[in-house]
Amino acid sequence: MENKEKIIEVKNLVISFKTDHGILHAVRDVSFDLYKGETLCIVGESGSGKSVTSKTIMGILAANAIVENGSIFYRGENLLEVAEEEFHKIRGHKIGMIFQDPLSSLNPIMRIGKQITEATLINSNKLKLMYEDLISEDLIAYKNRIARGKIQEKAVMAEYEKTSVDLKNKNGEGAPTKEEIKQIKKQLKDEKAAAKKKTKEIKAESKVEATPLKEKLSVTKKEAKAKVAEYKKGVLKEYKEAVNKINEEYKDRPEDRKQKLDEAKLTKVNKLKITKAEAKRRALEIMREVGIPEPEKRYRQYPFEFSGGMRQRIVIAIALTETPEVLICDEPTTALDVTIQGQILELIKKIQKERNLSVIFITHDLGVVANMADRVAVMYAGKIVEYGTSEDVFFDPKHPYTWALLSSIPDVDSKEKLDAIPGTPPNMIYPPKGDAFAARSKYAMKIDYEEEPPLFKVSDTHYAATWLLHPNAPKAEMPKIVSERIKNSLREKGE
Ligand SMILES: Nc1ncnc2c1ncn2[C@@H]1O[C@H](COP(=O)(O)OP(=O)(O)OP(=O)(O)O)[C@@H](O)[C@H]1O
Ligand SMILES: [Mg+2]
Repeated sequence: MENKEKIIEVKNLVISFKTDHGILHAVRDVSFDLYKGETLCIVGESGSGKSVTSKTIMGILAANAIVENGSIFYRGENLLEVAEEEFHKIRGHKIGMIFQDPLSSLNPIMRIGKQITEATLINSNKLKLMYEDLISEDLIAYKNRIARGKIQEKAVMAEYEKTSVDLKNKNGEGAPTKEEIKQIKKQLKDEKAAAKKKTKEIKAESKVEATPLKEKLSVTKKEAKAKVAEYKKGVLKEYKEAVNKINEEYKDRPEDRKQKLDEAKLTKVNKLKITKAEAKRRALEIMREVGIPEPEKRYRQYPFEFSGGMRQRIVIAIALTETPEVLICDEPTTALDVTIQGQILELIKKIQKERNLSVIFITHDLGVVANMADRVAVMYAGKIVEYGTSEDVFFDPKHPYTWALLSSIPDVDSKEKLDAIPGTPPNMIYPPKGDAFAARSKYAMKIDYEEEPPLFKVSDTHYAATWLLHPNAPKAEMPKIVSERIKNSLREKGE
């Protein structure tokens, strides 16, 4: 993968949520890369942090989320620093997302055709797009500087809020004396004052650094306006010349002349904006691409007139109108029956190949992973515990949690499952110390309850966070019966 182009780089992501019961630690220091044209599967049990991770990339976290740490680079821009309106352009345009329930992403009372063309028509003004393109680099630089300040301010306030939750919780334990309450109140007041002072400083520094960027932006804007005006002038001039020529050439053939004039006009319009007719043509083309039969008829129907599988195809079509570079699929087939599930997986694979998309595919189903993944990240309790190519993870897994997941794949022949994973995932308000899987693992050692294992390197492509990989650890391997079964089931698939 080294020579492949890196599209997304997630680094040290830490996401928590404010809840009534305390701070919930949903994502705890997650890092991974996504390369051009590959499918990375994120797999793990319910609650392991898969959706929160993908929602952070999309910039659609719930309001009670706290981004405590980390960066997400997309083509050199840190999405966590990008200002909201810039993010809007990337989200949907460059990074598309497909969810489990297609109905939730469709408008029930709008015809399908309109929903597909809407995205195209919103951006129909080519002159505006050209202008935005020309200024985007400087605009991003300026906006990012402002946003960075805002994020720093937010982080300070989030830190304060965390302390205040902790202090207030302290208040709730037992019955504090009046003196203690007084002290806590004072402490809260001091913390707040300190946070306010710090944010003021950040604001001032932001302003100083953003000023030259703002000045540069205003020069670029002027230049861009001139360029766009020049382009428009050119198009209009071309049109005028064409009209003169047609009038001359078809002087005596009024029928042909009218047709030629209409054509010239359409050429002009298409150079300035995307028309409704053009948007519809593109929509029908994409509907065909995602395998919707009779697209002309389907174009005029409402979501309720489609089956679950067809709806999911529509959602994929909508994501594709924006020609994204990255597609995030969060359990896109969980709500569908098995046959339809297979068809949608094939469709995603086909589109990915044809458009050379980078796909992040989230699932709790290792069977789906085996079918889709180039690389796999196994998540447990908000962490990536194993990370490698599909081969690494299926044929040479190292983490006991991966072993447990693999043991729960049903056998190809008997359909029987070896073992369900014992116990339940931890409560993430109180994440366990050490290896979070220890309490459910028969391979757990003393150190697993005390210290968090680092991500040990198994090979250039393969990493796992388990103390079993420490040179001093006793030898432990995945149960033979499980590895045999995996070999069998993958052989069945013709791999
Ligand atoms: N808005 C929220 N407020 C509080 N906790 C949240 C919120 N969103 C998610 N969580 C918690 O964050 C943790 C990770 O959730 P996430 O949705 O990422 O799980 P998941 O791996 O996608 O699971 P599933 O397979 O069930 O979709 C869970 O403990 C969940 O309860
Ligand atoms: Mg989820």
